[in-house]
Amino acid sequence: MDLLKRAREFVANNTVADCYKCRVHLTPETGWLNDPNGYSFYNGKYHMFYQFYPYATHWGMMHWGHATSSDCIKWEYAPVALAPKYPFAIGKACYSGSAIEHNGAHYLMFTQNGIGQRQCLAYSTDGVDYTRIMKPVIAEKDLPADVSIGNFRDPKVYKRGSKFYVLIGGRQKGNVKFGNILLFSSDDLYSWKYIGKLFEKSFCIKHFEDMAECPDFFTIGGKDVIVVSPWRKQKVLYSVGSLDYETGKFASGDVELLDYGTDFFATQSTTIASGDVVLSAWAQGTVSAENPMVKHGWNGLLTLPRKVTLKDNKIYQMPIEALKNYRKNCEKFQGELVASREMSTHGDVLDIELKFNRIKDGDGIVLYADNEGNGLKVYYEKGFVKIDRTLNYRTSVASAAEYILSAPVDTNNGALNIRIVLDKFIIEVFANEGQRAFSTLVAHTPERTKVVLVTASKTECEAELYNIN
Ligand code: FRU
Repeated sequence: MDLLKRAREFVANNTVADCYKCRVHLTPETGWLNDPNGYSFYNGKYHMFYQFYPYATHWGMMHWGHATSSDCIKWEYAPVALAPKYPFAIGKACYSGSAIEHNGAHYLMFTQNGIGQRQCLAYSTDGVDYTRIMKPVIAEKDLPADVSIGNFRDPKVYKRGSKFYVLIGGRQKGNVKFGNILLFSSDDLYSWKYIGKLFEKSFCIKHFEDMAECPDFFTIGGKDVIVVSPWRKQKVLYSVGSLDYETGKFASGDVELLDYGTDFFATQSTTIASGDVVLSAWAQGTVSAENPMVKHGWNGLLTLPRKVTLKDNKIYQMPIEALKNYRKNCEKFQGELVASREMSTHGDVLDIELKFNRIKDGDGIVLYADNEGNGLKVYYEKGFVKIDRTLNYRTSVASAAEYILSAPVDTNNGALNIRIVLDKFIIEVFANEGQRAFSTLVAHTPERTKVVLVTASKTECEAELYNIN
């Protein structure tokens, strides 16, 4: 059975209408999405692929969904790019990976998951149809003896000088299980040489109790940055340091959390035309029937592309500039805010900038507000930026700690700015020019869409509010 053909036909007949989806976040055409894959530029367009199971709103035999864009904000779906091979007994599903151009062709490097996990290639010269090469290019013979072939996945391929390198997540064999990242090099993408493991055992035990999933890598201003998603922890860590290409060792700086929300995993980065490094992640959602996306026939989405910069060896993230091209209906407020102020802007897709010269506890904004001004609150308290979903998002699987999210933030003599993007099912918040970021799912409440500026006392505030087209 040709599972690619079957998936393409199924998707064509089951596409979920746009009105049930986000407006500026990429969602699956139908069914389930997890990790972003193959984020790249080829043939004049940005390409984003994603872990895809079209047939249900839960995870299944992995395909690669595909979409293209001119600006990384609005995406057009392309036909499914990769599908598992029949029969399922030997699996051969297409797990996460990345993409690169070589000799004019667009190459996808991904994990073939079956009995064991091996790295494979597929290529295309039109950016639509991808030819899968079934013989793995990195398999057991290429692995050091202490790394398990059963947990060896998510290749991040890139070029440095004239050579290709790939970082792959792996897991140590034996009783104490821990993840690591392995580095390989190649001249042609087909034949790979193992270089080494990035981290020492003690570092791995501390940070990756199991697999180090979806390693991501980029260089900014001469500094190497590793981003990794430890399995089961459902959070993303990063470290700024330097990678030694002779030994494979990564001289790591502090290990930091990339996002303080509940829904942000498995990042994938690329470099866009402006030269900026941008990254996007999977906002996972739960598999429970209460998940508001599931009732519309899809589940999971990709976060906004975030421009990444470094300041004092820490990552700052903001949505890429192109998002501003979709703003409409500007409303501005500047002055003293007393208690609360309902804005004329309302809706379920919003882009908001708040500025405080001297922020006080309780200053912030409520979205999805009802007539009493209660809803989804983003505010400041005692050195932290917080999102309170208590009155907005309830599922039986979320713990109380998941309702109020917080991140420590620096203020400059009390000055703080907060950017908020709401897109129906998700809110992304960026505080202090991107020093802290949150990606978290929210309940979509189209019947309750007021926007209210709030303060616990009186405050000087500047606000710009936009709907997003
Ligand atoms: C991360 C992950 C990857 C794997 C993929 C399978 O979410 O578990 O490690 O390749 O998802 O869908």
